[in-house]
Amino acid sequence: MNWMLFLVSLVVVFLLGLMVSSITERKMEAQFAYTPQVEINELEPRNEVWGKNFPREFQSYYKTADTSFRSKYNGNAVIDMLEIDPRLVVLWAGYGFSKDYTQGRGHYYAIEDLQNSLRTGGPTGPDDGPMPATCWTCKSPDVPRVMNEHGIEEFYKGKWSRLGSEIVNPIGCADCHDAETMNLKITRPALIEAFERQGKDITKASHNEMRSLVCAQCHVEYYFDKKLPGKKGTPYLVFPWDGGQNVEAMEAYYDSIQHVDWTHKLSKAPMLKAQHPGYEVYKMGIHGKRGVSCADCHMPYKTEGGQKFTDHHIQSPLNNVANSCQVCHREESETLMANVFDNQDKIIENRDKLEELLVRAHVEAKQCWDLGATEEQMKDILQDIRHGQWRWDYAAASHGGSFHAPVEIGRVISKGIEVTQEGRIKLAKLLIALGFEGEVPYPPIKTKKEAQEFIGLPMEKLEAEKEKFKKELLPQWTAEAAKREATYDK
Ligand code: HEC
Ligand code: HEC
Ligand code: HEC
Ligand code: HEC
Repeated sequence: MNWMLFLVSLVVVFLLGLMVSSITERKMEAQFAYTPQVEINELEPRNEVWGKNFPREFQSYYKTADTSFRSKYNGNAVIDMLEIDPRLVVLWAGYGFSKDYTQGRGHYYAIEDLQNSLRTGGPTGPDDGPMPATCWTCKSPDVPRVMNEHGIEEFYKGKWSRLGSEIVNPIGCADCHDAETMNLKITRPALIEAFERQGKDITKASHNEMRSLVCAQCHVEYYFDKKLPGKKGTPYLVFPWDGGQNVEAMEAYYDSIQHVDWTHKLSKAPMLKAQHPGYEVYKMGIHGKRGVSCADCHMPYKTEGGQKFTDHHIQSPLNNVANSCQVCHREESETLMANVFDNQDKIIENRDKLEELLVRAHVEAKQCWDLGATEEQMKDILQDIRHGQWRWDYAAASHGGSFHAPVEIGRVISKGIEVTQEGRIKLAKLLIALGFEGEVPYPPIKTKKEAQEFIGLPMEKLEAEKEKFKKELLPQWTAEAAKREATYDK
């Protein structure tokens, strides 16, 4: 009798379970169901057009235009990083970043911020010339459109101004979605090619992996390779992942092909500029390892008027802890935020120390050159500076890295301190050998202005050129783009 009861209840529970799952499934379907208002062309670049069919996603996407939130170190407000930390100007002497570097803000500003940056210069170009067209790759859903029209290699050719009137819509729908199915889609060839070189097929990625891989199209370390066989000097976009994604593997990759982003103006070291290895670093942290995706924290689900949808307001999760963290964690919002700040504070403490050591290494190296040091005497030292600063930049530029993978970032910075100090021991010996006594003074770089003067940047000239560009050429680009887009709807 007991057994009978047990079996019957087992069956009942099973059937009930089936029913519940079918109801939730239907509910999910109903929640995501929509009636298309317009036909969206394949590769449609205009976010507003997609917005007609998906108003909630579009309206939440549009909130990336907000610039009012500041967390302890991040957020979407405009922050002039060179003003906050003038050491950066010296670390990047001879490279565009020493002219202008503001912290990243919402996707809505991707185009505007590139146009405004003093790093790109005007099309006539300041001292080191305008940046290549390749720079546009992570800025806009016009990129897949133009690549489709002209080919990938053709896209990367020439200077950025060549595509000034073509790339006009900020990061949006066509960067991550297939217009017909609305499935997530990888639109950037560099990511597909990086997978291929490792013998992996990105179209086989799981749905959960795709929720991070769409971000890995842009939030990754990359470089422009002008030496690729058969590509005739085109600055081709490549992810240096062939030997792995940690700081040592990518360094070994760059060293093996002798890649140099720029020669440092003071120390003459052959430098690497880390871009933003966000995805790589995230994968080394506990959330990445447990399969929590970028979208889980930066694009949580949201419910409005009984409809559940993905919040496309991509931003600092600290502006939305309830949806971003408390779905999985029971702790109070203050506790979770304190966890994040705690990691950031501790990492920044050592990161600042490493910056100071690097500034010292650059000026000490310059002192050696000034005293007549030879290439042979400097070779090992410059390699230490290259490797020390690469570690600092990998950590500093992996936006969110202090939270995404605090142990890894802490490790990278410690190693950076060690490598840089080894270089400085060699520098101290060389300085003595060259007859120098005492300490090379720390430069007067308390403000951005002082630091830029110290490295000899003609800031007024650069700013005037940019103003001229904004007044004269930019309105022409805008007008041409509007004319072209008007033909799409015919
Ligand atoms: C097509 C390239 C591209 C893709 C794809 C992309 N991003 Fe971005 N992201 C950028 C750029 C460029 C910026 C900086 C924009 C600026 O400052 O003008 C940025 C900024 C951000 C910011 C800073 C926002 C703020 O308010 O400070 C976050 C967070 C972010 N992205 C997360 C993500 C996540 C998560 C994904 C995937 C779901 C993603 N991004 C996909 C290029 C991209
Ligand atoms: C940076 C990448 C990215 C961009 C840009 C983006 N989306 Fe999404 N979108 C996602 C992700 C991730 C999901 C969640 C998909 C999943 O898990 O199946 C999603 C889901 C959706 C869905 C499915 C329903 C839902 O809300 O979950 C729709 C519809 C959608 N997006 C529309 C849009 C529209 C319209 C735009 C442009 C205004 C846009 N998306 C821009 C990444 C993006
Ligand atoms: C989809 C679920 C999920 C979301 C969303 C999520 N977490 Fe987690 N979190 C985890 C898991 C899983 C772990 C690992 C715990 C374990 O496996 O024991 C973890 C661990 C942590 C830890 C401890 C990590 C460490 O390094 O010791 C902190 C702190 C944390 N999360 C904070 C946050 C914050 C802040 C947010 C929001 C920005 C967040 N989490 C969002 C699932 C999540
Ligand atoms: C467990 C939650 C979680 C996951 C998963 C996660 N992030 Fe973050 N992310 C955060 C938190 C928390 C911060 C720190 C925000 C702050 O300091 O205001 C952050 C910061 C960032 C920032 C800098 C934001 C700013 O305001 O400038 C970017 C960019 C970013 N994350 C991108 C990504 C990308 C890309 C992925 C996936 C490869 C990812 N994140 C995965 C929680 C997460």
